[in-house]
Amino acid sequence: KMDRFIAELIAKMTLDEKVGQLNLLTSDWESTGPTMREGYKDDIAAGRVGAIFNAYTAKYTRELQRMAVEGTRLKIPLIFGYDVIHGHRTIFPISLGEAASWDLQAIEKAARISAAEASAEGIHWTFSPMVDIARDARWGRVSEGAGEDVYLGSLIAAARVRGYQGDDLSRPDTILATAKHFAAYGAAQAGRDYHTVDISERTLRDVYLPPFKAAADAGAATFMTSFNEYDGIPASGNRYLLTEVLRDKWGFKGFVVTDYTSINEMVPHGYSKDLKQAGEQAINAGVDMDMQGAVYMENLAKSVTEGKVDIKKIDAAVKAILEMKYRLGLFEDPYRYSNEAREKATVYKPEFLEAARDVARKSIVLLKNKDNVLPLAAGAKSIAVIGPLGNSKEDMIGSWSAAGDRKTRPATLLEGLQAGAPKGTSVTYAKGASYAFADAGKTEGFAEAIALAQKSDVIIAAMGERWDMTGEAASRTSLDLPGNQQALLEELEKTGKPIILVLMSGRPNSIEWADAHVDAILEAWYPGTMGGHAIADVLYGRYNPSGKLPVTFPRTVGQVPIHYDMKNTGRPINPADPNAKYVSRYLNTPNTPLYPFGYGLSYTSFSYSPVTLDRAKIRPGETLTASVTVTNSGARDGEEVVQLYVRDLVGSVTRPVKELKGFEKISLKKGEKRTVRFTLTDADLAFTRADMSRGSEPGQFKLWIGPSSAEGHEASFELTE
Ligand code: IFM
Repeated sequence: KMDRFIAELIAKMTLDEKVGQLNLLTSDWESTGPTMREGYKDDIAAGRVGAIFNAYTAKYTRELQRMAVEGTRLKIPLIFGYDVIHGHRTIFPISLGEAASWDLQAIEKAARISAAEASAEGIHWTFSPMVDIARDARWGRVSEGAGEDVYLGSLIAAARVRGYQGDDLSRPDTILATAKHFAAYGAAQAGRDYHTVDISERTLRDVYLPPFKAAADAGAATFMTSFNEYDGIPASGNRYLLTEVLRDKWGFKGFVVTDYTSINEMVPHGYSKDLKQAGEQAINAGVDMDMQGAVYMENLAKSVTEGKVDIKKIDAAVKAILEMKYRLGLFEDPYRYSNEAREKATVYKPEFLEAARDVARKSIVLLKNKDNVLPLAAGAKSIAVIGPLGNSKEDMIGSWSAAGDRKTRPATLLEGLQAGAPKGTSVTYAKGASYAFADAGKTEGFAEAIALAQKSDVIIAAMGERWDMTGEAASRTSLDLPGNQQALLEELEKTGKPIILVLMSGRPNSIEWADAHVDAILEAWYPGTMGGHAIADVLYGRYNPSGKLPVTFPRTVGQVPIHYDMKNTGRPINPADPNAKYVSRYLNTPNTPLYPFGYGLSYTSFSYSPVTLDRAKIRPGETLTASVTVTNSGARDGEEVVQLYVRDLVGSVTRPVKELKGFEKISLKKGEKRTVRFTLTDADLAFTRADMSRGSEPGQFKLWIGPSSAEGHEASFELTE
């Protein structure tokens, strides 16, 4: 039925009407890049637009939709897209924070709620999930993805797609997902946003593509191209990525949109001599929709007439876009997402806020807890919150907060601690320091903060990065605490009071000094609308932290890029002689990170039994079961993420020293134990071999099960022919 409807519609369309469907323009409400085109309303009325982004609310989308369906000859409805990244109105922790929960159900639920709120405000399509693997903390967009790992990142990519799209796109509370940014954007040289990517084909296939494949397999309706080039060809003109891999190999049937003006950017990239050629290269490579560049709008019809672009290419792009409109039910009722009553009843529902608090708690990672200073003891009667992130609403929300209110609704850390304070406990605040780069070296505010600290029982240092120091176009060459925060922290330490550092940031920071000197450290990311309450729940011990790092925390920016699944090299460090010359190391810093991938503490402790394998050898197709018994050996109930890593000792190409191949988040009452079983087959051991085919290779493997990528009990097995 759909095929016939769309074929008949396309048959009626003029070339200009077809090209019109291929344009996505921003409304004037917001923009996330340069404005290339004024007067988007005139373009809608003239049938020159297939989709609009940055417009929401039932009322406004209805108004714009009416212009398309009442004002144009064929009455084709618009799709409304938006960056609903970690919540729409109710804001969840930034995506990297959510990933630290290692809780796929919670992550899927957050996406589901985001879809419910966004769709109630007229939105049909989110530019999420961002599934770029990120291994360079200098890059600001580390905050937007699921971290450094291929396996975890792939599972989270699929969970988010399922959350947004549900299992039925025709339900008006589901929205189209976008897997972005295709591809390898996270490998930007030196962590500088939009910079060149130059990685091997094997790394592309084994590291950067799998989360995209997982999103495609989960049914992601759309893909967004990245700004970067891959192997000398900008992604928006890259036929290999968009056609050979995405469509021919993976069977993707949705549509591909560019990132913001990235067709235009093929000119400064030095790949296109002018915009007209850029448009031809993009459509011929496999780009269906041009975001905000107006390149298709202004050039494509001419390119078809001149024979530079086959009309079949245009028809295929139009078909892919119209199919999504059909699947969303927009031809039946173009206004079905623009319903003011539903909008009112949906946004900021108490259960959504509760879910946001839950995910925020789950995303918090306890990095240090000397002498169990946390949870706060009942004797801590006066709590001093100090630091620029202690009472800032907008910072709680982080970047890409869609339509989230960053001024009034978010609970700050101070507010959360005050609201949850046990009877008789006072919580007071001094900003003390500044995170502005320009304030490094200043000491204004220090005296007041130190005086407050001196008369308090405990200091909560709320420090980190201002919300817009991560996200797009927010690369840094230093990972230190910006401004004069470090200097204040050192002054606070001199008071001798216990210090708990609550770090809020969208990337790993280099906090080696803090690790050596403060009593406890919590990584709280940007925790969202309910963030202050969530952090307070953890500090007061009403929630036992269970987050684990989805990214490696380096000791210093000089170690970057650093990730747990590096290669061994031919001259690895011998642990018995760590200072030997002529091995692969730094003179002044260990190779090891400050905190490894997968690391995170709890208020209780877990002990792991040795690993047992049900067999020592497997053949292709057979299943190996690895088991471990985990005991909650501490004094509280808690949750643990049990992690399985594997190393392929010899390959036709060298293999990483460890790779995550399984995990399970379990909840154990104090004293309780559970046996966790993981299964592996040769398919889990596959990689891109020397001849570029994908598969496993027979040989010896090591396996570890433990609480992080740096710990665990070891076992060995063999994969035979
Ligand atoms: O979705 C984003 C993308 O991630 C970066 N450039 C702008 C797009 C739309 O706002």
